[in-house]
Amino acid sequence: MSNYSIKNLEEYFQLYRKSVREPENFWEEIAEEHFLWRKRWKRVMRWDFSKPEVTWFEGAKLNITENCLDRHLAIRGEKTAILFEPNDPEEKAQHISYNELHKRVCRFANVLKSQGVKKGDRVCIYLPMIPELAISVLACARIGAIHSVVFAGFSSQALAARINDCDCRTVITSDGSYRGAKTLDLKGIVDQSLKDCKGVKTVLVVNRTGGEVEMVKGRDHWIEPLLEKAKDECKPEIMDAEDPLFILYTSGSTGKPKGMVHSSGGYMVFTAYTFKNIFRYREEDIYWCTADIGWITGHSYIVYGPLANGATTVMFEGVPTYPDHGRFWEVVAKHKVNQFYTAPTAIRALAKESLDYVEKYDLSSIKVLGTVGEPINEEAWNWYNNNIGKNKSPIVDTWWQTETGGIMISPIPYVTPTTPTYATLPFIGVQPALMDDKGNEIKGNQVEGRLCIKFPWPSMARTIWGDHKRYYDTYFSAFKNMYFTGDGAMRNAVGYYRITGRVDDVIIVSGHNLGTAPIEDAINEHQAVSESAIVGFPHEVKGNALYGFVILKEVGEARDRENLKKEINQQIAEHIGPIAKLDKIQFVPGLPKTRSGKIMRRILRKIAANDTSNLGDISTLLNPEVVEEIIKDAQ
Ligand code: WT7
Repeated sequence: MSNYSIKNLEEYFQLYRKSVREPENFWEEIAEEHFLWRKRWKRVMRWDFSKPEVTWFEGAKLNITENCLDRHLAIRGEKTAILFEPNDPEEKAQHISYNELHKRVCRFANVLKSQGVKKGDRVCIYLPMIPELAISVLACARIGAIHSVVFAGFSSQALAARINDCDCRTVITSDGSYRGAKTLDLKGIVDQSLKDCKGVKTVLVVNRTGGEVEMVKGRDHWIEPLLEKAKDECKPEIMDAEDPLFILYTSGSTGKPKGMVHSSGGYMVFTAYTFKNIFRYREEDIYWCTADIGWITGHSYIVYGPLANGATTVMFEGVPTYPDHGRFWEVVAKHKVNQFYTAPTAIRALAKESLDYVEKYDLSSIKVLGTVGEPINEEAWNWYNNNIGKNKSPIVDTWWQTETGGIMISPIPYVTPTTPTYATLPFIGVQPALMDDKGNEIKGNQVEGRLCIKFPWPSMARTIWGDHKRYYDTYFSAFKNMYFTGDGAMRNAVGYYRITGRVDDVIIVSGHNLGTAPIEDAINEHQAVSESAIVGFPHEVKGNALYGFVILKEVGEARDRENLKKEINQQIAEHIGPIAKLDKIQFVPGLPKTRSGKIMRRILRKIAANDTSNLGDISTLLNPEVVEEIIKDAQ
């Protein structure tokens, strides 16, 4: 057990050095001592970033659900695995033990099998944050099917694109979902998508809201009667360490989302090891990550990482503002949560409200606080530290990505001294590099550059589903032999990293990763629009909000333009989801372009941020006169 739980800074540095000098020995020891393998690997790792090709634990056999479920039964069978807290505080929380979870996963797996789902098949899961979401994820993994969870806030068109991209034949959904005071018609959204998804043969429907739904004969089945009939044992499918475990979509620089493919062996080892250390999980602890399982944070740090450690993981169905702004703190007090992991946007939103919402509750159980998803500003960090952590719980500012599978840069609580706004040091085995524009590594401290990773880590994505070339082009072509993250970062005098934000055309809004291209595509489909450009601008709660510059085919009346703004946002909500709506829309006569026709987003960003005193050199523009006109009408 020696290396598994890091006790002090000296040990961290020692292990870090070992993980860099002898990565194979280091990871082999971790993998060997803490996980259940059906067959040992032939080789710990192999890599070639020029292709890119990366394998971990090649030749090994396992099933991740044996690690997350079966092996715990003898020692902690009655311990709560999933603690489900419903949207409505009046509804009772559910404590699902490891024994029960094991049975429910097996039942669900048997239902999938009886519907013809086989190893390697893709299954789309479009569910709210209810236990069946975690159960169906694990059921897929049990039988070797590849799950593709789509966040249940995505629109029917976005869902259809994701179903078709990886050719899912089976979709799991629910009749509806509760979000605060609202009830959403999920099944209706699925029905809408399936008009464009001819390959889907089976829809399994969980009963959550009891709302009326249409069931298509032969295609749609309520899951409950099928589960009742199913056996509660299901032999795990024995998988290769490199077999795909899941696909998760993230937005990119074209309209088409990227299906990041994660494999099972390395992903399991890295998410479990990071979970244990970055949240300092101890056997009796109650751990709560407020993310949705529709994002990578939920995959790695609600489901797989915690369960691989035999942890109790809270699943919360609701929202931070319902029934009031004290909901998070009420849940922390009620379940005596020890580790609390959330996003800066939630912290900023709650920090604006009265402190009474916090002070009403006993938060003394908290030992570790975490944040993820976007840079955390100093003010929010201090509020979190003072009011939630009471200046005694370390904050782990965890930097990572859908593509990295697990946390890459983060303090280890009670080990790494924290500094507000700094994600601090790379986790064991992670080798960051800062690069300049010419492609050279910037060595030394007090420097800033583009953040790359120069050596593979076990949970990195292996490819983009169906498009390996795009995987190479997006992440491995900018800097030779490096994985490029798309983020900028600085390294301070003591070697701590601070993530400064995206340096590509992705904008992080309320912690959600949004590509500008898919939003622009959605706007441009409006019949009145000829062209558009989206940029981010600073927003006190969301971190960034979206500003759209739109060229109309015809100028039209002012009254019509107000309507058009609504229609444009409606169009975006239909194509992507409400999270991608624009805060500001400005109709412009033209967009600043270079002579080669590229939109100069740098200028638009400054206009959106109301910072036009120094626009830099605009003389090289094809149409410099348009800049003045845009500034004149800026909002
Ligand atoms: C992007 C990845 C990984 C879970 C959620 C987001 C930004 C993430 C931090 C942080 C500053 C952060 C980066 C990154 N980001 N965590 N602690 N500090 N920025 O996953 O949707 O794949 O987005 O989120 O820009 O590249 P994702």
